[in-house]
Amino acid sequence: MLDIAQLPPEAFRRWDETPDAWFYAAPRFVTHIDAGAIAAVTQLYRELFPPGGGILDVCSSWVSHLPEEVGYREVVGIGMNAAELAANPRLTRRLVHDLNADPRLPLADASLDAAGLCVSVDYLTNPVAVLRDIGRVLRPGGPLVITFSNRCFPTKAIAIWLTLNDPQRCRLVEGCLQAAGLWRDIQTLDRSPGGGDPLYAVVGRRA
Ligand SMILES: C[S@@+](CC[C@H](N)C(=O)[O-])C[C@H]1O[C@@H](n2cnc3c(N)ncnc32)[C@H](O)[C@@H]1O
Repeated sequence: MLDIAQLPPEAFRRWDETPDAWFYAAPRFVTHIDAGAIAAVTQLYRELFPPGGGILDVCSSWVSHLPEEVGYREVVGIGMNAAELAANPRLTRRLVHDLNADPRLPLADASLDAAGLCVSVDYLTNPVAVLRDIGRVLRPGGPLVITFSNRCFPTKAIAIWLTLNDPQRCRLVEGCLQAAGLWRDIQTLDRSPGGGDPLYAVVGRRA
C-alpha cells in the first residue's frame, strides 16, 4: 500500500488543468473497457451490493454495469455530463457535480448502502477527500468497489497514474482508501477475464 502522505502535490496534477466541465461537455456514448471487463465489474456488484439497497454510482455515465436481474431501491449517479446521466436507465437520481471542484457529495450522511467507482479513480485530483466523503454517505458495513483497467484519457488522468504499472496502481488506490480513514477490510482483487482488458478492484467496507 502506498503512503499517500509521502506523495508531492504534483502527483495529483494533470496535463490538462482546464475545468473538467470543458472536457466532459459533449456526451460520450461509448464503453471504456471491453465486454469481458464490464462483465467482471457486474459480477463484483452482484456479489457485493445488497439487492434492494440504495446504490451510489460515482463518476457515472450512461451505463452503471449493475446486474440486470437485481433490483435496487434507488441508484444515485454523479457525473459530469447531464445527457449521459439522462440516458442511464438504472439511475433514479442524477447529479451533475464536479468532484475535482468540490469533493463533497451533495448527499446525506449514511443514506446509501453501497458504492461503485468504475474506471474513473484516476481522474480525481483529490481522491482521498472523495473516498472519505463516499464513506460519509454510506451506512456502516457498506461496500465500496473501485474498479480500473489499463486505459485512460491521459490528459485528464493524474500524473502519478501515468507513471505506475497495474500492480502499483492497485497499491496507490489501496493507499488512498486507507488515507481516507473510514474504510476497513481493504482488499485488492484481480478479476481480469484473460485475453482482453485487465480488470482490478480495490474494495473496502465502511467502518
Ligand atoms: C471513463 S468514464 C467512466 C464512466 C463510467 N463510470 C463507466 O464505467 O463507463 C469517466 C467518468 O468520470 C466522470 N468524471 C470525470 N471527472 C469527473 C469529476 N471531476 N467529477 C465527477 N465526475 C467526473 C465523467 O463524467 C465520466 O463519466
